[in-house]
Amino acid sequence: MNIDNIQLIANTVIDMCDSTSDLARRLGESGFPHGTWVSARTQEKGRGRQGRSWISPRGGLFLSIVLRPERRDRMTWFPLAIAVGVVRALDRVFPDNGARIKWPNDIWIGNGKLAGILCEATGTAQGSFIIAGIGMNGTEAPEDLDPPAVALSVTDGSAQAVADLVRPVVVEEVLRALTELEVSGTGPLTRFYRTRSVFTPGTPIQWGEGNKKRTGSVIGLGGSGELIVRLKDGSEFPLYAEDVSVRPSEGGPSLKRR
Ligand code: BTN
Repeated sequence: MNIDNIQLIANTVIDMCDSTSDLARRLGESGFPHGTWVSARTQEKGRGRQGRSWISPRGGLFLSIVLRPERRDRMTWFPLAIAVGVVRALDRVFPDNGARIKWPNDIWIGNGKLAGILCEATGTAQGSFIIAGIGMNGTEAPEDLDPPAVALSVTDGSAQAVADLVRPVVVEEVLRALTELEVSGTGPLTRFYRTRSVFTPGTPIQWGEGNKKRTGSVIGLGGSGELIVRLKDGSEFPLYAEDVSVRPSEGGPSLKRR
């Protein structure tokens, strides 16, 4: 997609692109301010965390926001703050939705993933900025994913209408959560996280791949937003960006499609 006039995509929903986060990067590089966003009805090369792709069928929310926070020292908390903003937005639009945060920043409803967040730091000679890319399934979830994807159980309105309803509230609540982090510190975010976290204290979890798989049980968040776990030998161990899942053999939630 060739964008000759960058102004045209700022704070706009476009029909299609490779990745809204690429467009947001161009907005940031062109000097657009904190809070500038771009969204698309579908993406052809949506990206997820850990180099994965993000399937982006029409009806979902695909949104990237340029962030220029002042408190860089709280940067490790941004992914969690953004997740808190997304859950608060869902609460405003769909009360009693039961959405929870799966550390570090997946949004789950029931036993499946509703939304994911990709934070990318970038910069130019004029300064660095962050792109928060948020992908949320609409009224239909992509099939055959692990963990399984879930959709918003909304029967009134078209899928597009649902994404249009959620988008402005997500932008508002994400920006509000980041301001809260800057002004009030990590306390309010941490308290909210505790009430809406998949990984409550004591949850048996696993991380790592193949024969490097490790296990532990959740203690809680550390001072940088990392997940502190207790290992079998009783010691504490911090996780920073790993993909963590509930150990199925120990009574964790079964992964069923809703
Ligand atoms: C994850 O792996 O859970 C993060 C998924 C992030 C997907 C969103 S969709 C909008 C933005 N554009 C992208 O290419 N990725 C993010």
